[in-house]
Amino acid sequence: MILVTGGAGFIGANFVLDWLAQSGEAVVNLDKLTYAGNLETLASLKDDPKHVFVQGDIGDSELIDRLLAEHQPRAVLNFAAESHVDRSIHGPEDFVHTNVLGTFRLLESVRGYWSGLAPESKQAFRFLHVSTDEVYGSLSATDPAFTEENKYEPNSPYSASKAASDHLVRAWHHTYGLPVLTTNCSNNYGPFHFPEKLIPLMIVNALAGKPLPVYGDGMQVRDWLYVKDHCSAIRRVLEGGKLGETYNVGGWNEKPNIEIVNTVCALLDELRPRADGRSYREQITYVTDRPGHDRRYAIDAHKLERELGWKPAETFDTGIRKTVEWYLDHAEWVRNVQSGAYRDWVKKQYEAAA
Ligand code: NAD
Ligand code: TYD
Repeated sequence: MILVTGGAGFIGANFVLDWLAQSGEAVVNLDKLTYAGNLETLASLKDDPKHVFVQGDIGDSELIDRLLAEHQPRAVLNFAAESHVDRSIHGPEDFVHTNVLGTFRLLESVRGYWSGLAPESKQAFRFLHVSTDEVYGSLSATDPAFTEENKYEPNSPYSASKAASDHLVRAWHHTYGLPVLTTNCSNNYGPFHFPEKLIPLMIVNALAGKPLPVYGDGMQVRDWLYVKDHCSAIRRVLEGGKLGETYNVGGWNEKPNIEIVNTVCALLDELRPRADGRSYREQITYVTDRPGHDRRYAIDAHKLERELGWKPAETFDTGIRKTVEWYLDHAEWVRNVQSGAYRDWVKKQYEAAA
């Protein structure tokens, strides 16, 4: 079996659902269930004996030691993290706590477990760390896309904490020989995305008749990948990745934010037109920019394609349509994640930016 951390979050849950749909191998899913973790996303697995959910912290060494000893996983995949840049600006400590200290403690527990394995299991074992392209910093309009050779130049508390975790993972390989793999992926979108991030926020705000808050001039560029393509890349790297190496994951879909928002509005105009017949575009509102806002991210995913034969299955057009349709079909999931804590966050963030 495999042990997944953060498997009740956006990408982790998509990964667990896909994994169990495609393989007979069981999953132990450890998640702290912060505001971003949501067991409702995993509701379809309630009666699946191949899914064992455990609520807990990656920094709880005693718990991790116990889970590893009990379940004897052949791999640990670390998705658990604090992941929202705006939250990291308001409160960076949680990011250092989970992304840095938590990853360190997880690595130490895994190292202890791995050291005691029989030679064959020891050789087959993998620790896969899920990271972000944001560790490379910001590109100008004309810079080439990030390759695995780019320098780490993180600019936000979030990306700095992820960069620190990547360095720890690297060091545990070089110093202790831990068989690690790291993936650095661009912005994901798709089902079960918490509506604090750009795409789901725009969909839910549009439908609720609320403003669509675009930071600064809206010309910041992100490189979008449909979440299921990220999951297939992780499976590929887990199967065939070279130990100690990093793999960039991206969908060759660079787009300025304002174009994303306009696309979401156009799809909603088509699929769920406003009662007054006007366009959702009329709800777009430019607000104060994010401090230190990175201008452009772009991923060069050639290494993953060349060495492991991975390619995304979705284009941006197919993926964004599926995503908008998913949100239209899952109004109850959206309602349920918009808890009191979510409303407090939206008030704090967007009143300050207005
Ligand atoms: P998310 O915020 O939706 O989910 C994170 C999950 O981790 C939540 O379920 C949360 O409860 C859990 N968690 C948080 N702290 C924990 C702790 N201390 N112990 C155990 N569980 C904890 O994040 P996501 O978007 O699913 O991102 C998953 C991973 O992928 C992160 O490591 C993130 O840095 C990385 N990543 C995300 C993107 C993206 O666009 N979302 C892109 C590239 C990489
Ligand atoms: P986000 O989804 O927070 O991802 P990240 O900051 O990790 O790239 O934001 C994506 C882009 O959208 C980013 O450039 C910030 C911008 N943005 C807005 O313009 N308005 C918003 O309300 C949000 C949440 C993001």
